[in-house]
Amino acid sequence: MTTPSYENVRYEIDGFIATVTIAREKALNALNRHTLNEIGWALREADGDARVRVVILTGAGEKAFVAGADISEMSEQNATEARSFAAAGRNIGDILENMTKPVIAAVNGFALGGGCELALACDFVYASDKAKFGQPEVNLGVIPGFGGTQRLPRRIGAGRAMELILTGDVINAEEAYRIGLVNRIVPGAELLAETRKTADKIAAKGPLAIAYARRAVRKAAELNLPAGNDLEAELFALLFATADQKEGMRAFIAKRPAKFEGK
Ligand code: CAA
Repeated sequence: MTTPSYENVRYEIDGFIATVTIAREKALNALNRHTLNEIGWALREADGDARVRVVILTGAGEKAFVAGADISEMSEQNATEARSFAAAGRNIGDILENMTKPVIAAVNGFALGGGCELALACDFVYASDKAKFGQPEVNLGVIPGFGGTQRLPRRIGAGRAMELILTGDVINAEEAYRIGLVNRIVPGAELLAETRKTADKIAAKGPLAIAYARRAVRKAAELNLPAGNDLEAELFALLFATADQKEGMRAFIAKRPAKFEGK
């Protein structure tokens, strides 16, 4: 099923999986403000839709996931407008952070600047063997503005993040895999199908368990160990008040597959 009301985004639901495709191919899917808004709407739509259990975020075409924030649009901005534009990009990161459903980035080509930052804000990244990653903002006389200086060091460590951000180097999928930016490299033609397999695997689990596991892992980056363990204990206990926990454990004991309903 496709929702036709977006201009630069395709939103499709198939089974438990929503696919959000950034589709502005003439500009290599670069993120102008309107596209950012549409991505935010699509993610919120997926989060609010009880049919959806996992989201895949990808780019249209074979060349780019997202080639960055839109340089034509930024070139005209003053500082106030740039702050507001960065806030719109940050908003997508915040939505991804706080959603109840996992989002997998399927990076099909260039993920530069805001594109790399978008992939980083997803739960994990699968990449085509043709994918390329980088934070080339310094080449334009600016710095990452959609969370790159914060999320990249958290994902790959301060030294590697510093090198990428200060040199503006663009790295290939192999290197991105080696440094932990990418979980898996897949031949381009199989990227969506492979991502879908993982999405289906996650979608077959208890949706509440997935939501709480995701929340606990996300919070690990913010909390100290005792506070993180406290949160985990609360979420673990809370799941014992759900039908999915009863179903999961009864199914195990009865030696049958569990059927989870997210209740
Ligand atoms: N913004 C706007 N338009 C872009 C764009 C971007 N980030 N990236 C590519 N495009 C446009 C090009 O201007 C070109 O348009 P025209 O056909 O109208 O000229 C079209 O997409 C195709 O691009 P190229 O002809 O450049 O394609 P290429 O194969 O020669 O090069 C590329 C591909 C290496 C990705 C090159 O397009 C490029 O370097 N793009 C910019 C990458 C970049 O600097 N991204 C960071 C932006 S800053 C940022 O993102 C800030 C932030 O953190 C918020």
